[in-house]
Amino acid sequence: MSILSILEPASTTTPRPAIARLATGSIPATVGSDLLVPLADGRVTDYANFDHGASAPCLESVRASVEAALPSYASVHRGNGYASRITTQWYERARAEVHAFVGARADDQVIFTRQTTDALNLLARAVPVDATVIVFESEHHAALLPWPAERTVRLAAPSSPAEAVTRVADALRQAPEGPRLVVITGASNVTGEIFPIADIAKVAKAHGARVCLDAAQLAPHRPVDIATLDVDWVALSGHKLYAPYGAGALIGRSDWLDAADPYLHGGGATHAVTSDTVVWTTGPARHEGGSPNVIGAIALASACAAISKHRDAIEQHERSLLARLRAGLAQIDNVTTYSIFGEDADRVGTVCFTVAGLTSTLVSAALSAEYGIGVRDGKFCAHPLVGHLLSGSPEHGTAVRASLGLGTTREHVDRLVDAVRTLATSGPRTEYTENAHGCQPADDPRDLQAPRIW
Ligand SMILES: Cc1ncc(COP(=O)(O)O)c(C=O)c1O
Repeated sequence: MSILSILEPASTTTPRPAIARLATGSIPATVGSDLLVPLADGRVTDYANFDHGASAPCLESVRASVEAALPSYASVHRGNGYASRITTQWYERARAEVHAFVGARADDQVIFTRQTTDALNLLARAVPVDATVIVFESEHHAALLPWPAERTVRLAAPSSPAEAVTRVADALRQAPEGPRLVVITGASNVTGEIFPIADIAKVAKAHGARVCLDAAQLAPHRPVDIATLDVDWVALSGHKLYAPYGAGALIGRSDWLDAADPYLHGGGATHAVTSDTVVWTTGPARHEGGSPNVIGAIALASACAAISKHRDAIEQHERSLLARLRAGLAQIDNVTTYSIFGEDADRVGTVCFTVAGLTSTLVSAALSAEYGIGVRDGKFCAHPLVGHLLSGSPEHGTAVRASLGLGTTREHVDRLVDAVRTLATSGPRTEYTENAHGCQPADDPRDLQAPRIW
């Protein structure tokens, strides 16, 4: 009997919380879509969020699911009271929802983690000691750094999807005997470009290698299907999937994970403990030591359900905004956009650019202070890739990243393009001070202190 059937409430008279129903509109609504932000000239404007690639706003339906769960919030797998039974049931249902969201195979595990970084570090601890890991230098640091340096082969950033496949094939041909793991991002967090995951997985399989997909940037924007892509693990983050409640997941094959030392030694990960022995359990619980983040898991599952339901509308919304943004920026002199594979590459809604004569920090500060636009500037935790992309632009050590999503509107795109045009042609409207801690208007009337909200 499954845990779900054991825990199903016995009668229809059992009190049930109000369950959030998903909005059926074209794209799911986000919390804070009416946020007003102050400008340096004293006006306020609605916030134009172009920082989804860092952390996406919460979905209204996710917030509703969390609110529905809170009245009966209790321990998971640790109590027989009604509330514990319901909460445990939600936790396991969340696992099933995430499993379905990535098209996992029946015997794949879903392990709840904190985020993608945590998920990839967990897998890195489970990689067999004689395994070779192959990874592109273009990866986010979370996918680049967890692997043992002496057994990791780093490949230079490819210049086309075909070259990515060839580079992996060449590296696998030269790899020593033994287990191999290819780590590949689904979509670049710097340029949004989509990597040829299925082709790389095919080559990997032909060489007996396994594949781990970093889906942090892909999953919020495009379907990820483990079985179709033929990858072995997928890592993702709830906070990039419109579920900012501290949960992510590692989904995939159980053998390496069940053979590995538990990620956290403690309660929940054990099968039996005596005064001098411990037998660790297998399955997801092995690596979920301690009380789990059930609210995070529920939020993540709720987001997965909403995104799956609205997948086509989300993709259409983002494709049209991205096309408008790229076309707008392409017409501005003095703006350079950066790409790994070239202009025609398929990509999610992320654009990386610089403005001649202005530092990226100044551009992002002016976009915020003068236009109410939130972007990110820097090297985006992908230092080798940004170094590679900017190698032809010695003036710039960092870039600006605009990443759109469900919190972005057409007006936001037009505002961003107009703002970048004004900055590129006339510069900022006010004086800025720039130092190691950042950049802000020299005479900034905005109150940027966050009031205490508890
Ligand atoms: C492609 C990619 N992988 C991994 C990560 C790490 O995600 P997190 O910070 O949620 O662990 C990020 C974060 O930006 C990312 O963009």
